[in-house]
Amino acid sequence: MGKIVIAIDGYSGCGKSSTAKAVAKELGYTYIDSGAMYRAATLHFLNNYLTATNPKDIQKGLKDLEISFQLNPDTGQQDTYLNGLNVEQEIRSMRVSERVSDFAKVKEIREELVAQQQRLGKEKGVVMDGRDIGSVVFPDAELKVFMTADLDTRAFRRQKELFERGEIVDLEDIKANLGERDRIDSSRKESPLLKVEDAVEVDTSNLSFAEQVAQIVGLAKQRINQL
Ligand code: DC
Repeated sequence: MGKIVIAIDGYSGCGKSSTAKAVAKELGYTYIDSGAMYRAATLHFLNNYLTATNPKDIQKGLKDLEISFQLNPDTGQQDTYLNGLNVEQEIRSMRVSERVSDFAKVKEIREELVAQQQRLGKEKGVVMDGRDIGSVVFPDAELKVFMTADLDTRAFRRQKELFERGEIVDLEDIKANLGERDRIDSSRKESPLLKVEDAVEVDTSNLSFAEQVAQIVGLAKQRINQL
């Protein structure tokens, strides 16, 4: 059977990653978390005291930035590696969440990560989630989904996720972080978050996880059958 590329974009915290992961599993596809790559790049810059504003810092940071994914046999999930170290937990911390949009704004960082993402998806059979997947990374993707959910729902889900990782964060702080990231991600000059014309909008505010996965798998099967 033919394979397609599935691009899932949308606001922060509306369940893109977990949904994309489940869709990939059901179709036997590879899941690629492009946000994890921006998070790993951010961690690298922060750890090396490099800024997002100084061109010399950006050049220096990109020179020895190596991001990869490796299957974790205990969880069955792909873990993110930064220069050979497993950073899967660290990149989800508030320390990184609070700074990632500043680094994701930088043209040179985006160019480097987009090139890597295009290489990862060139064999098709991938589900990739992010902000610019349908618009910039894979403008020819056979299926483009734009996921949304209201801010309260998103903040509540994110709080639960952080709690399960052992981080207790006030709901208002999470709402402020999500709102601020939406604002920066949507208004930046370089590949802003937007719903492209040929994307299907899926509002998950009132959908169960199983329902949102089933909806996207259904759309994917339709596209695969049309090949
Ligand atoms: O999906 P996420 O919340 O883990 O993404 C973290 C940040 O990375 C998000 O605030 C915006 C940025 N990002 C981006 O600019 N482009 C992408 N394709 C993916 C993420």
